[in-house]
Amino acid sequence: MAKIELQKLVKEYGKTRAVHGIDLTIEDGEFVVFVGPSGCGKSTTLRMIAGLEDISGGNLLIGGEVVNQREPKQRNIAMVFQNYAIYPHMTVGQNIGFGLYTAKMTKAEKQQRIAETGKILGLEKLLDRRPAALSGGQRQRVAIGRAMVRDPVAFLFDEPLSNLDAQLRAQMRMEIKSLHRRLGTTIVYVTHDQVEAMTMADKIVVMRDGNILQVGSPTDLYENPVDVFTARFIGSPSMNMVEGVIAGGALSIEGATVSGFTLPSQEGKTLIGIRPHDLVVGEAGGAGLSASGTVEAVEPLGSETLVHLTMGKAQVIATAPGRVVPAIGSTVSVHAGAGSLYLFDAASEKALGRA
Ligand SMILES: Nc1ncnc2c1ncn2[C@@H]1O[C@H](COP(=O)(O)OP(=O)(O)O)[C@@H](O)[C@H]1O
Ligand SMILES: [Mg+2]
Repeated sequence: MAKIELQKLVKEYGKTRAVHGIDLTIEDGEFVVFVGPSGCGKSTTLRMIAGLEDISGGNLLIGGEVVNQREPKQRNIAMVFQNYAIYPHMTVGQNIGFGLYTAKMTKAEKQQRIAETGKILGLEKLLDRRPAALSGGQRQRVAIGRAMVRDPVAFLFDEPLSNLDAQLRAQMRMEIKSLHRRLGTTIVYVTHDQVEAMTMADKIVVMRDGNILQVGSPTDLYENPVDVFTARFIGSPSMNMVEGVIAGGALSIEGATVSGFTLPSQEGKTLIGIRPHDLVVGEAGGAGLSASGTVEAVEPLGSETLVHLTMGKAQVIATAPGRVVPAIGSTVSVHAGAGSLYLFDAASEKALGRA
């Protein structure tokens, strides 16, 4: 087990910079998720940690030592890939044992390690089977087992669940999370899926264009996004953004009335973020934001209905509680309570605060 530190870490491919000098500390035992859109540098960063990519600048430290020049196997870090390559002609036990191929251990020690790993992953009764006779989730566990058997200081996962169907993905999220709880080994996990980030991470690292935008717990990022990008990236459906102006100590938004807010001191053009779950259809007014809107589309989900509205010039998504499904074309009133607005400077898109 070990702390991993990224100090001004840079990756260049020829003249293109994929990673722009990022700083990050991953504590021993932490579950850290890198999240961001495709191409933002997540895999490149992970591969530099693993030793699969040369580092162009800055330092990578594992357990306090600079390891920039160390070979992957000297770093004792295990990587689990998206296309988990398990060998069809080998049994589950042999696949797991393959992780020990170069280990200096007796055969008996290897067998014991394979048995323990199988047990932790719930594969102990399947060690003699071939992968073809396994479910998708079991195969994924074999791939994890092969990484685990070496007792690495950290696991690196690169979008390991993106090939699985939604139900299995949800199950594997919880399995990997529970594995982390039992082993306590540092995990660095890359995904473009904010739900995976929110549900699994101790610490989320939001990346964009080769930079780190924000680091924080899932709750931190949800409650205090530093800018419009993070605000819209975290949370589903995405946060609504409407334009407004703060002038003379008052906030005005076309098509809405607002009252009872404590506003930030900065005046001028403002973007107002409202999460769909804070914009409630049919709720009585009072302090907060009140508006009416025309229903453009509805998504009844059973427990709630997502209602797509035109509110002034803006397209927004609101939530209708219970089993209410408003008619398309009808006019509904919506309300967001005081404290639920996220304000951003319209030019820089940086957060101004909550109101
Ligand atoms: N081997 C490579 N050669 C040149 N450019 C690359 C290479 N690998 C990745 N890149 C570029 O680096 C950037 C980051 O890629 P990557 O780390 O794979 O992003 P992510 O994993 O976040 O989708 C992208 O612009 C990508 O095109
Ligand atoms: Mg990638």
